[in-house]
Amino acid sequence: MNMPLMTHEMIQKYFDECYKPCIHEIKQTLCLKLNETYGELYYYSLVKLLKYLNITSQDHFLDIGSGIGKLVFQIFLTTEAASVTGIEINTLRHSIAIQIKEKLQQQLPEIFVKKFLNLQPGDFLNFELDHITIAYVCSIVLSFELLNSIGKKIN
Ligand SMILES: C[S@@+](CC[C@H](N)C(=O)[O-])C[C@H]1O[C@@H](n2cnc3c(N)ncnc32)[C@H](O)[C@@H]1O
Repeated sequence: MNMPLMTHEMIQKYFDECYKPCIHEIKQTLCLKLNETYGELYYYSLVKLLKYLNITSQDHFLDIGSGIGKLVFQIFLTTEAASVTGIEINTLRHSIAIQIKEKLQQQLPEIFVKKFLNLQPGDFLNFELDHITIAYVCSIVLSFELLNSIGKKIN
């Protein structure tokens, strides 16, 4: 499969197929625990955001709270970023993201030669991430206290 020749529609469909076998596991992760509320940025909302970000091969992207990995995989497959990192505190969501990463590695090995895809379980606040050039966080679901701590760490 040649990714640069794929349309957004094809990529979205490909993602849907990848996640289909995990649908029951995904439902189990939709908890309402504070700071672990789940939500996703829509595929085309990220396409719009990416136009403004203008990510280059010098960039190292981080998704703070990467959930089941959709945003991380979209950045990895559709941008030039040298590395894409996702950190997720909810272990079940992280394990789903790992399953999808393994599938991508099997099906699209050539993309993994040039770029680095890093999925880490745990609390963002405990990671050393000095190389990151762009950090994304879906802030609307996080508490003021957590956002304050994230802001301090980034500063
Ligand atoms: C709304 S989801 C965002 C998913 C994805 N980034 C997106 O925007 O499509 C936010 C995620 O952040 C995770 N999270 C909350 N606090 C965290 C922390 N301290 N470290 C890492 N992940 C965290 C939650 O478990 C949840 O899966």
